[in-house]
This record gives sequence, C-alpha cells and structure tokens, in this order.
Amino acid sequence: AGPCDIYASGGTPCVAAHSTTRALFSAYSGSLYQIKRGSDGATTNISPLGAGGVANAAMQDTFCAGTTCVITTIFDQTGRSNHLTQAPPGGAANGSDPNGFDNLAAADGAPVTLNGNKAYGVFIPPGTGYRNDATNGIAVGDAAEGMYAVFDGTHYNGNCCFDYGNAETSVRDTGNGHMEAIYFGTGGPGGAGSGPWVGADLENGLFNGGNTAANPNSPSLTSRFVTAVVKGEPGTWAIRGGNAASGSLSTFFSGARPSGGYNPMHKEGAVILGIGGDNSDRAQGTFYEGVMTSGYPSDATENSVQANIVAAGYAATSLTSGPAIAVGSAVSFRATTACCTTRYIAHTGATVSTQVVTSSDTQVLKLSASWNVVTGLGNSACVSFESRDTPGSYIRHSNFQLFVNANDGSKLFSEDATWCPQAGLSGQGNSIRSWSYPAHYFRHFNGILYAASNGGPASFDATWVFNDDVTWVVGPAFA
Ligand code: AHR
Ligand code: AHR
Repeated sequence: AGPCDIYASGGTPCVAAHSTTRALFSAYSGSLYQIKRGSDGATTNISPLGAGGVANAAMQDTFCAGTTCVITTIFDQTGRSNHLTQAPPGGAANGSDPNGFDNLAAADGAPVTLNGNKAYGVFIPPGTGYRNDATNGIAVGDAAEGMYAVFDGTHYNGNCCFDYGNAETSVRDTGNGHMEAIYFGTGGPGGAGSGPWVGADLENGLFNGGNTAANPNSPSLTSRFVTAVVKGEPGTWAIRGGNAASGSLSTFFSGARPSGGYNPMHKEGAVILGIGGDNSDRAQGTFYEGVMTSGYPSDATENSVQANIVAAGYAATSLTSGPAIAVGSAVSFRATTACCTTRYIAHTGATVSTQVVTSSDTQVLKLSASWNVVTGLGNSACVSFESRDTPGSYIRHSNFQLFVNANDGSKLFSEDATWCPQAGLSGQGNSIRSWSYPAHYFRHFNGILYAASNGGPASFDATWVFNDDVTWVVGPAFA
C-alpha cells in the first residue's frame, strides 16, 4: 500500500498527493512531475519505475544530459488535478521570473535514494515556489483536513515561509485563519533546542503549539529526513512529526484552536509549496512527498503512513559528480570558453574575475588565482574554496555575483560559500554548482564571476555559451 491507500482505509482519503520521488498510491503509475530543459525548452514527464514505485530518475538524467533542467509541474496523483505549478506574484512579493512568477526548482538539486533507487526531491531556495489556486476537493472554511510532508531536516531558514498546505486562492493575506499549512524552519515561536521545528502557518502567525509562545514539547528535528504532520477540524488541531527514515511520529501539540481569529477557520483551499500564503518567498527547504486529505486523520492512520514512509527507505546520496575536487587540495580554475582558455578565476580584493595567469607570473598574481579546497562550510557533502592569499576568506555568492569575503560565521555565509562540483556541462572538467541555489553555477560573463542560472532573469544568466562559461578545468594551484 501507499500513503494514500492507508489514508483511504482510515476514511480520510487524499485529495492532493504530490511527490517527485515515488507513487503515493500502490496502483499509481502516471506522471509524477514534469521537467523542462535549458538546451531547447523541451519538457518531459517523469513516471514511477512501475505502479506504486520509485521515480525513474535515469529518465531525467538522460533527458537533462549536458544541460540544465527545472521542475515545471508536480502532478497530483489523486486524479483531482490539484497539480502544483510555478507560483504567481502575490501580496508580499513578486518572483524574479517573467511576470513576477517565482523561480522553478533545479531538477537535480535534491538527489536521494529510496531503498537504493535514485530519485530527486524538490530543493527550494529563497525565491522559488509552487502553487495551485483553483483546486478540487481541498478543505475550505472550517472543514476538516490532514496533511503530511517529508522534508530535509538540514535545509531550512528562519524566513517566511517554507510551507506545504492550504492557503489563499487570491495570493493575498486575507486574514487570520485563511491558511492551514505545514511550516518547517526556525521562523516561528519554536520549541526545545535551536530548531528547526515542525509548525503550522495559519496566516499572520506561525505556530509550534496552541498559541504564539514557544512549545517546549516541540523538539528540534535535525534528522536528514523529517516527517511533518498538521491536521485541523472544527475547534481542534494538532502538530506531529518525527524522523522520516526511522521510528514513529510524536504529537507535539493537540488541542484547541488559537484565539485571535483562528476559530472557526476560514480556509480557502489553494495549495502552496515553499512559500507563504501571500507569496512571501524568502524561505528555503526541500520537499520529497506530501499529501492533503479530506477529513481529520486519526493518529493511528498517520502512524501507519509514517511506517510506510520509513519503509520507503529514504537515504542521502552524493551531491557531486565529475572529476573529484579533493578536500585538502589546492586548485586553479581555467575557463573553457573559446575566448578565454588562458584565463583563470582570480580575485582582486573582494572582486572575482578571470585573469590571464601563467607559471612565470608574480607570486602575488599566482596566489590570487589559487584556492584551498575545504569541507563545505554549509554542507559537508560539498566543498568551499578558501583564498590562498587571504586565509579565512572564501568564494561566496551575494545577489548572485561571486565575491571573496571573510567568513562571518553566519548560516547565510556558510551556505553562500558552499559548492557542489558537477561533471562539466559542456562535457569536460567541472561545473561548480551552488549548494544553496542549485540552478546557479560559477560563470564568467564579461570577465566577472557570477553564480548564474541558465536563462534566468539577470543579464549574466544569458543562455548564449552558457555551458562553456560554466565549465572549468580544475587543476593544481599556481602557488
Ligand atoms: O502566517 C505567516 C505569513 O504571513 C503567511 O504565510 C503570509 O501569507 C503572511 O505574510
Ligand atoms: O546570491 C544570492 C543571495 O544574495 C545570497 O544567498 C545572499 O547572501 C544575497 O542576498
């Protein structure tokens, strides 16, 4: 059985079921998600390997070979067509894609395995979001519903709002109680430890318990995979969670609705992923699977769903590919675009550019083009690049330009300075992909270094010679 078969036998059927990693009904063999590639704009749908099975990741890898891909649609598996697509602009924010839409997730940003089979989750950086404002069967008003999602417990922040669930159909903040979504991160009142915590976004309020105070019964959930549960019915609601790779769910809160406009609820029935109800879009997180139900699921039903998730066997896998860039080595990066094959990544102060460098140049110039490879400051599965002439300073992105800046110890800096080398997009060497924004790669553009996305909104995102501009021959350091 799949999670939605379990909810159905509990009398609380799924009315939305989203996953890029697996079928959520044992009989489902339709499309899980759609991807679009950068080379020619073509799209294709990814299905499970078999009915009820894991996604066919090899199909994605083949379709996207030598180019970039984004996730355009996460299909609803219930037959109700509650698909998630690129989120439109809202009351709080416009996205940076055309017409104010949010960005789409890179298709390969969140690789995992399920019982050994490779699959891809949805890695959501700030600015990325999915939505459906015209749904079928999602709870409205004070009607009962339940929901769960599986997230990455190591990918979060404190900004508004990494949500999955019920929100406004107008993409505007229409008042307290107009949302009922799972929230994951450190933006709410919190609980025990330093987070992240599973909570709920009920509009104009993130909750980790029954009121706006911290909830000591809500533990930090730092496991690599997290199951998050929120459910609500008239007068009552609950927040539950656990480790999605082992063990059972715990109830962090169950009881009365908060005061201040949250009872009765005024749910509107849109579905959001990665954003707030008003398209607040500064949060980050990773989504693997999730559903919404009609009716208030019993704890026993949810406990069976958790057992099913654990049995799916989520595990981490490599975030890198291509020639190894070993921690402890010192490297140089040579450009491969025809214009520029004698140029290397170098810095002058904070500015990162390409410069012509040879072994007979001055020690000062050679050091400016030499980098220590260290364990990724923001994720130990990837790497960071420390300047050889300025110890303690690293290549980081800020507003998608690269800079050499001193490590200020912040979570944001660590993540801005973390890179997951890939096989070079043009077929040689490496492409250096941002951990925190996996659609973005080291790119030279008019001689300056950026974290560029293929066909994105900035001038330096231009598709012209993108693959060559993001492909580097990584060799030994000059000095
Ligand atoms: O409730 C928190 C956030 O407040 C909602 O997601 C958003 O719509 C509003 O800005
Ligand atoms: O480079 C993109 C973002 O811009 C970085 O994460 C942040 O430091 C800056 O706001």
